[in-house]
Amino acid sequence: MTDFDTIDYFTDPTLVDDPHPYYDHLRQQCPVTKMPVYGVVAVTGYDEASEVFRDADTYSNAITPTGPFPGLPFEPEGDDISEQLEAHRDQLPLSEHLVTFDPPQHQRTRALLGKLFTPRRIKESEDFLWGLADRQIDEFLADGKCELTQAYAQPFAMLTVANLLGVPEEDFDVFRTHLGAQKPGAMSADEAMVANPLEFLDSKFSVYIQDRRDNPRDDVLTALAESTYPDGEVPEVLALCHLATFLFGAGQDTTARLITSSLRHIADNPELQKQLREDRSLIPNFVEEALRMEGPVKSDFRLARRTTNLAGVEIPAGTTIMINPGAINRDPRRFEDPHEFDLHRHNAREHLAFGKGIHSCPGGPLSRAEARVTIERLLDRTENITISEEHHGPQGNRHFSYEPTYILRALAELHLEFTPAD
Ligand code: HEM
Repeated sequence: MTDFDTIDYFTDPTLVDDPHPYYDHLRQQCPVTKMPVYGVVAVTGYDEASEVFRDADTYSNAITPTGPFPGLPFEPEGDDISEQLEAHRDQLPLSEHLVTFDPPQHQRTRALLGKLFTPRRIKESEDFLWGLADRQIDEFLADGKCELTQAYAQPFAMLTVANLLGVPEEDFDVFRTHLGAQKPGAMSADEAMVANPLEFLDSKFSVYIQDRRDNPRDDVLTALAESTYPDGEVPEVLALCHLATFLFGAGQDTTARLITSSLRHIADNPELQKQLREDRSLIPNFVEEALRMEGPVKSDFRLARRTTNLAGVEIPAGTTIMINPGAINRDPRRFEDPHEFDLHRHNAREHLAFGKGIHSCPGGPLSRAEARVTIERLLDRTENITISEEHHGPQGNRHFSYEPTYILRALAELHLEFTPAD
């Protein structure tokens, strides 16, 4: 028996900076393993996780954002808890948000996103990103150094979602003040994303949406305000507010962390940086490999509605299933030398950092564009990006700390140095 056989993954600080040896340990036992705590079953295998993602009928999303905390508000009984779950669903944290919905409510609500994630809207968002990236970089370029998360990644990702939703530019400053830098969910049960930081957004969006319903204009907020469910029913203003606020919750910290982890690889690896500087067409696959190596979503949860069998392991109804994208994306049965960062990996894009199936991330194309535009503009506007030795130690003996959360894989800080390009 090793410490890994008894450790509490959800609260033990020793697993925060590098959870991968633990994930490997779990997978070596079995890609579907009962953990020693909270009755959670961890899925660390790629194929097994795909099976869970695909089967929305057996595996409910009701507990997706928080996992085993605060626990179910009922004692599961029998081999099918569907009725119990529906009777208590609104007592679960964040139950008003899309990601926790199951069919048929899920498809109905997800259809409302259709107007925001059209190819045309993504293209318009991307056009906006180039200017936004430059404005953000202008704020610190002359200093020759920055802490990337606060100075760039958080405000950049937040204003990108604001723009996607059609928030007027004159309101950007107030959004930045309220939402510019968020802390991800904490390690403790009490704080696990249960605190809802979205009141500010609800108040803003209820005004925007009501205003556009009363005075329609040719803008994105009007399209959102006028969207209907597939059967033609008009959603309540509050339902649209929840959708808008969830997009901030889902799209800001995740993308910010992708940007930071990408820049860490670039700054810490001069040869890789040189290759990207010389051939920008390598950037998209670089971003995929960064997502595979360190997907920002660290744990994604499901609740077994019915007693079932996964990879030969019996899963009783009411079991909390945990999928770790960081583990499944390093499953050696799918990715060769999985712990190596390989810029040219041929199947990097097969990673499941954005999930799979009916809940798969609608923001994937946008966050990929955010990372690509950021990298392009930072490479264009600097001559040599390096890691700050003062903050992270010398090459060969670096230290990077991660936010103490089981929800997100999130570098706490990334201090960079660079020479501004002429
Ligand atoms: C690197 C950045 C991102 C990562 C790693 C990421 C990851 C994920 C994952 C894994 C899920 C699936 C959850 C599940 O199956 O339980 C998801 C869902 C979702 N994401 Fe993202 N996401 C990112 C960026 C974004 C952005 C930029 C937006 C919007 C602007 C967004 C909006 C959403 C929404 C609305 C859902 C819920 C979809 C549903 O339940 O049908 N995400 N994301």
